[in-house]
Amino acid sequence: MKPIKVGLLGIGTVGAGTFNVLQRNQEDIRRRAGRGIEITMVAARNLDKARGIVGAGVEVVADPFAVVNNPEIDIVVELIGGYELPRELVLKAIANGKHVVTANKALLALHGNEIFAAAQGKGVTVAFEAAVAGGVPIIKALREGLTANRIESVAGIINGTTNFILSEMREKGLDFATVLKQAQELGYAEADPTFDIEGVDAAHKLTIMSAIAFGIPVQFDKAYIEGISQLQARDIRYAEQLGYRIKLLGITRRTRTESGEGIELRVHPTLIPASRLIANVEGAMNAVLVQADAVGASLYYGKGAGSEPTASAVIADLVDVTRLATVDPYCRVPHLAFQPNEMTDVAIMPMAEITTSYYLRVYVKDQLGVMADLTRILADAGISIDAVLQKEPGDQVNLDIILLTHQTREKNIIAAIEKIENLPAVIGKVTRIRLETLS
Ligand code: HSE
Repeated sequence: MKPIKVGLLGIGTVGAGTFNVLQRNQEDIRRRAGRGIEITMVAARNLDKARGIVGAGVEVVADPFAVVNNPEIDIVVELIGGYELPRELVLKAIANGKHVVTANKALLALHGNEIFAAAQGKGVTVAFEAAVAGGVPIIKALREGLTANRIESVAGIINGTTNFILSEMREKGLDFATVLKQAQELGYAEADPTFDIEGVDAAHKLTIMSAIAFGIPVQFDKAYIEGISQLQARDIRYAEQLGYRIKLLGITRRTRTESGEGIELRVHPTLIPASRLIANVEGAMNAVLVQADAVGASLYYGKGAGSEPTASAVIADLVDVTRLATVDPYCRVPHLAFQPNEMTDVAIMPMAEITTSYYLRVYVKDQLGVMADLTRILADAGISIDAVLQKEPGDQVNLDIILLTHQTREKNIIAAIEKIENLPAVIGKVTRIRLETLS
């Protein structure tokens, strides 16, 4: 059988990794796919650099539309990043009857419904293993490996930059700004790290996993997103003294509400018991914990970024698409795991309705009765206290009081915090970090 022909849009870190791994492992890949997979055309901004990577045998062009409009190309691999240009290119490739492989989580989190519907209409596949957790095959696991299960929740460390920063803050006792600067110098964090540190990148990935886990459309606009830029070194230290680690977790979960079933979709710093495996995922690594009814808990761990780890996922998709290219479209694995006409409209829950536990740090004047006031406000709100810690943060005058609560509704804690902040002995704002036992 003739090799399948692939056009690359973009040949940066991941594109170069894809080209190199395909070359290096071409014989094994051919034996697995049933035919060869050849990159025959590349669109790049820097033509000389691209030619230096792919050599003379591959056509290098400046115009990405020349790739998606080339009738010789069977699969388009989109590695440009961003939203609008990739959206146009992917939709054009689909309209031209080409399969698409993309690593672009932002594109799918925002425009996935439109793109998957277009692909369905044309009988082509859009594959996106590399869009979530880089080289960790979590899309394959959720969509195929766990297909027998009713998935209850997915909780993941799905942004390596923030996990690296949090690990360094904890291990070295450094503050956020210092570690961010180091991460940028080491090349872990982008020059503009906003999407990573403010949780947006993690929310893109979580939105995609949520859709696959629960058979709902992608709904990035409904995700609750809170990043790590406000985290203080002392909260990481106090959490550790109480037996917890703080991670930026993406959590999506089925929940019963007063009005029926809802889906939680949230990214925020989270205290996790230090004894959990996922709490010990350090540095730039990623991990995803899935709870499902038949299999129970399963954990997927590995490199969430980087040239060859991400290329590994891109090529896995290329092999899948190559194997399935001649199969009747209705027999292929659906893009979002569930058949398109079997998706549900279970609502994403408003954050005020979710139930979790909380870490509260209250900075107070060291006065008689302040602890009693705090505990009374929580008791009046029906919020039960699990642990209390009192610390002198170093100024010899005031105190940090740290309270861990049992589970309560988010709206209850918000109301209680408002009352606490109005106490005369309380200085400034209460620090509130959510806590998940993940048991
Ligand atoms: N910037 C991402 C991270 C990698 O830090 O994990 C690509 O998704």
